[in-house]
Amino acid sequence: MKTKLMIPGIFSLLTLTSMNAQNKAHLDKTKPIETRIDLLMHEMTLEEKIGQMNQYNGFWDVTGPAPTGGSAELKYEHLRKGYVGSMLSVRGVKNVRAVQKIAVEETRLGIPLIIGFDVIHGYKTLSPIPLAEAASWDMDAIKKSAAVAADEASASGIAWTFGPMVDISRDARWGRVMEGAGEDPYLGSKVAEARVKGFQGDNFAGNNHIAACAKHFAAYGFAEAGRDYNTVDISNSTLYNIVLPPFEAAKNAGVRTFMNSFNILNGVPATGNVFLQRDILKGKWQFDGFVVSDWASVKEMVSHGYAKDGAEAAMKAVIAGSDMDMEAHLYVEELAKLVKEGRVDEKLIDDAVRRILRVKFELGLFDDPYKFCDEKREKEVIGSKANHDAVLDMAMKSIVLLKNEKQLLPLKKAGQKIALIGALANDKNSPLGSWRLGSDDNTAVSVLEGMQEYKGNVLTYEKGTDLTVGKTAFIDELKFNNTDTSGFEAAVKAAKTADVVVMVLGEHGFQSGEGRSRTNLDLPGNQQALLEAVYQANPNIVLVLNNGRPLTIPWAAEHIPAIVEAWHLGTETGNAVAKVLYGDYNPSGKLPMSFPRNVGQVPIYYNNYNTGRPVDSDNNVFWSHYSDVEKTPQYAFGFGLSYTTFAYKDLQVAKSYAKGEPVKVSITVTNTGDYDGKEVVQLYIHDLAASLARPVKELKSFELTSLKKGESGSITFTLTDKELGFYDNDGKFIVEPGVFKVMVGGSSDKTIDSAFEIK
Ligand code: NOJ
Repeated sequence: MKTKLMIPGIFSLLTLTSMNAQNKAHLDKTKPIETRIDLLMHEMTLEEKIGQMNQYNGFWDVTGPAPTGGSAELKYEHLRKGYVGSMLSVRGVKNVRAVQKIAVEETRLGIPLIIGFDVIHGYKTLSPIPLAEAASWDMDAIKKSAAVAADEASASGIAWTFGPMVDISRDARWGRVMEGAGEDPYLGSKVAEARVKGFQGDNFAGNNHIAACAKHFAAYGFAEAGRDYNTVDISNSTLYNIVLPPFEAAKNAGVRTFMNSFNILNGVPATGNVFLQRDILKGKWQFDGFVVSDWASVKEMVSHGYAKDGAEAAMKAVIAGSDMDMEAHLYVEELAKLVKEGRVDEKLIDDAVRRILRVKFELGLFDDPYKFCDEKREKEVIGSKANHDAVLDMAMKSIVLLKNEKQLLPLKKAGQKIALIGALANDKNSPLGSWRLGSDDNTAVSVLEGMQEYKGNVLTYEKGTDLTVGKTAFIDELKFNNTDTSGFEAAVKAAKTADVVVMVLGEHGFQSGEGRSRTNLDLPGNQQALLEAVYQANPNIVLVLNNGRPLTIPWAAEHIPAIVEAWHLGTETGNAVAKVLYGDYNPSGKLPMSFPRNVGQVPIYYNNYNTGRPVDSDNNVFWSHYSDVEKTPQYAFGFGLSYTTFAYKDLQVAKSYAKGEPVKVSITVTNTGDYDGKEVVQLYIHDLAASLARPVKELKSFELTSLKKGESGSITFTLTDKELGFYDNDGKFIVEPGVFKVMVGGSSDKTIDSAFEIK
């Protein structure tokens, strides 16, 4: 949907005169920000204040249902009146400058816009999807990746990203798991912090950092049955212990904005939720930035049946603390009347506006509204060699080696015949993943291109089968029901004469992401049939998976000797995959989400509860299990191999500690294999008996350690009350005495264990 940007004509003399007559004291940089806000707000009419709370979509990318009544003409008219505080999905210096110019030069008060954009995993030069990045467990790399994204987005005029998404999810059917850090609140909190710091930098003094946004507040990742936008129904315990911690971590890292969510919580839509936004976020956590609604979520409160019309929806949203209305148009249409009727207290408007202006001041937009509008910088920064190098590094770090039998990997560099099979191997678009509106289609290095860089072997390529049928655009519902097997024969033929077969199979990049829920997590289309046909011809297969979520691959897990989880790795996909396959990079990623054996196991997650009947004690059916499949996942949270191996020994912890005393746990890890490598050493605890049942395992610390071949290292973890305590059902954090099991290892399902007591 494209509408030409109309550059406005000469603005009226009347506007000019009134603008010039205004007090510009708020532009005095030497004054404190709060004083500058006071000075500015003193000048603002009610309508201008409400204007700051209104966010319109731009004229290019549409990331939600088409808004009603949102013609370009109306948006321009409102821009000129100062009735727009922000726009989203406007990008490129030329376009941003055009709308900013209207806000700054044509409105009465000249308040700059804050331009927001979904910078989810890079802007033009793309990093891996966030779920993949989380698999690196490398916080420095993740921070750097977000900084690269901010660098490019800011060079394109953007001041604010709608990221990071910090929603925890246990349901791989939900397509948006690709945008998050997986199933664990501890890892999720660390990743949230790294992303916020990467996007925002230390302050906004330069012009290469942007405001971040922790979303979706809250519990959106618990949509029932993984169906996007569906009802959420979770316990207080899950809310406090699983859902909220990454949001709080983002807040503590200084995130300047939050986005609320589409779902209800206890019957109250998040957008109208006083408890979430006022009591917790702005009350308990003292958050002083602003909250933006999700796309038209103010209006969706009518569909939820929580507001009878748009006016009531606007009223409930503003009372609940939703400061800015994204594309529902209801604040701009309804709020002034609601204030005049006495249904909304103007103090609430003032509070929202103050928060929005605060972030604009902090970003430096009042000092230079065009600080992100430097054409020269735009040309130099976007797509720079340094950014390509950074996303390649991140991509290699995100790869997880799931299986490596017969030592198929790393591939020999010479004298081999290699058959590369699968439509995704020759795809330059899908590896970019979902959510990449700032990039250009077909700009990824394909796996074929990456492997062609290694010239010592004879490489043949066969597609085998097409993945998708019909259109593959971000906005389309994709079709994956391909049954055409006409390419199988050529693929089988190529496999027969090869020493090793590399098959790139999985999901298209647009098969995950918003609105992309699936009830079937098998390899889509006829890829499974292709895999089995090729296996008959040559079982020496390295399966490279492309996917935005855990898949169910029980047959491959049993039969295929080598499996590499390569997600959607962004612009440098092919180079990253080839370097790992050829051993120029030794993989060290670990899964941030459990891989189920079949969809029936979902939700499946490592930090579950024991139940009263965890094991079969009487040799009968009355215990917590399935009759038709094991209850363990195919691949556990925290699992991932390396080309080398690691041994764990000497787990040491004192027998008892006083309450409040830090608990020291140490372990020796040895690289016992033939390669230098990195290992994510993970520490889990289990509070054995507490006032509320606690999960069987909870990640409480980890360290990414590099060990040379044959080298040993000792790692000491420190656990404080923060790690040992938990939230009760009223949201109170408590630390209880008692015995804790401590588990350390390279995966949640492979640890060595000890215990200590808190007296
Ligand atoms: C809806 C999505 O839920 C949200 O994450 C995104 O930032 C907005 N659309 C804007 O595109």
